[in-house]
Amino acid sequence: MTYIYAIANQKGGVGKTTTAVNLGAYLAAAGQRVLIVDIDPQANATSSLGLVASQLPRSLYDVLVGETNLADVITLTNRMRLDLAPSSHALAALETEAVEAISDPFRRSYLLRDALTPTLHRYDYILIDSPPSLGLITVNALAAASDGAIVPVQCEYLAMEGLGQLMNTVERVQKALNPRLTIAGLLLTMHDSRVNLSAQVEEEVRSYFGDRVFQTMVPRNIRLGEAPSFGEPVATYAPNSAGAMAYQALAAELMARNGAEQPEGVLT
Ligand SMILES: Nc1ncnc2c1ncn2[C@@H]1O[C@H](COP(=O)(O)OP(=O)(O)OP(=O)(O)O)[C@@H](O)[C@H]1O
Ligand SMILES: [Mg+2]
Repeated sequence: MTYIYAIANQKGGVGKTTTAVNLGAYLAAAGQRVLIVDIDPQANATSSLGLVASQLPRSLYDVLVGETNLADVITLTNRMRLDLAPSSHALAALETEAVEAISDPFRRSYLLRDALTPTLHRYDYILIDSPPSLGLITVNALAAASDGAIVPVQCEYLAMEGLGQLMNTVERVQKALNPRLTIAGLLLTMHDSRVNLSAQVEEEVRSYFGDRVFQTMVPRNIRLGEAPSFGEPVATYAPNSAGAMAYQALAAELMARNGAEQPEGVLT
């Protein structure tokens, strides 16, 4: 079976892309076949994996407007078992174009889900990196996420702000479009153990959301910020960094939750 997660939070810069790329890389390192779907017009996951969106002949945009199949745009990355469905800036127009072209709001919301269906057998995990908004693109990501949303929460001032709105959207999509949609897990990111505020945010989020919060927390770590500019996941850029260890632990936590045996070691 294929696990499909949307990495979502309409708040910008909380670590969605960093999580999609690095969780994906460590799931692949643990032997899973992984597809990262970059549905954010900013194309940050695409560039973080070393590809230049403007130089690609086709992107997820062409798939979602029905011009081509997902299999035709999927590219390999320099990591074994880690594939990417790249984004392009053209995706920014999808929302208006889809509203004009497709009058049925259900069909508009299932563009990604339907595009993924023929390739499911090729992957164990599909991670969808969504943009910082709750518009049609994120709704498509949530509607396709059969195993739920992974919600990064930055350990900063006003961390919980906007989470209520996100929960409402998740509930609406769950009722109307994807009955299996849940919050698979909240992930505390950019945690700094030297800063009181980080501890306060952790306590607040854990006391409110309980065991829906991953045990693993991602520390604020400079290597995680640097890796994208080298077009590499932190797994290869700085495998011994605290950021790398955290995403490795997160991959193990998610796999354990899904009933996988713990891998003996990390494959490379
Ligand atoms: N744990 C971390 N430690 C240090 N820097 C981080 C960490 N996580 C992410 N960053 C950096 O913070 C910035 C925002 O992270 P990221 O792009 O993953 O957030 P995002 O939620 O995807 O943003 P957007 O909403 O714009 O898509 C990036 O420059 C990233 O490299
Ligand atoms: Mg992003």
